[in-house]
Amino acid sequence: MSTSSRTINPIPFNPRLLSMPGFSERQILEHFNVLYKGYVNKVNEIREKLQFANRQEANATYSEYRGLKKGETYAMDGVILHELYFENLGGTGGLPRGNLLYRLEEDFGSIHSWRHDFMAAGMAARGWAILTFDPRDGRLHNYLLDAHDHGLVANTTALLILDVYEHAYFIDYGTRRADYITAFMQNVDWTAAERRWEKLTTQQDHS
Ligand SMILES: [Fe+2]
Repeated sequence: MSTSSRTINPIPFNPRLLSMPGFSERQILEHFNVLYKGYVNKVNEIREKLQFANRQEANATYSEYRGLKKGETYAMDGVILHELYFENLGGTGGLPRGNLLYRLEEDFGSIHSWRHDFMAAGMAARGWAILTFDPRDGRLHNYLLDAHDHGLVANTTALLILDVYEHAYFIDYGTRRADYITAFMQNVDWTAAERRWEKLTTQQDHS
C-alpha cells in the first residue's frame, strides 16, 4: 500500500487572519501552526501505523487497531473542523447574503434569533458550535460538539463553524468566552458559508 497517496497536507494560511480585530497574532498562529497542523501530522502518523496494525487482535476494550482507529477519527475531525473554522474567519462579520440569509430567517424566525441561538450554542459547547443543514428535515440547525468526534449529527453539512475550545481564545480572552464569541461574529467571512450553501443547493438541484 502506498503511503504517499494517503498523506494529507495543511491548507495554506490566510494572511487576513493576522489583521482581525480582537485576535492577536500569537493567538491565531499558535492555533493554526501548533494545534491545526498538529492534527494534520497525527492523521499522517496514524495512517502510516495503520498499514502495519494487527487486525487479528482487534478488540473493543483495548487493541492497537482500536487505539489507532479512534485516534484517526479524532484527528481527522480535528483537521476538517479547523479547516472549516479558519476558512470562515477573516471577513467583516455582518450578515450573510442571498438565499442563505433567507433560509436562516425562515428556519429561525429572524437572523437575530439565529445569531442569538448560535452564540448560545457557543457558550454551551465544550468544543464546537456549528450551523448545519440537515437533509432529513430540509432545515438549518445549530448544533454543538463536546469534542471533535462527539456530537456531530450524521449526514448534516456544516455551513459555519465556531471553535470554543479554550485554546481558541485563552491567550486573548482568558475565561471571557462571550467576548471571544462576539469577536468571532465580527470577523466571520460569510462568503465561505455562502459558498458551502451554494455548493449544497446546487448538488440538491442535480440530484
Ligand atoms: Fe481549535
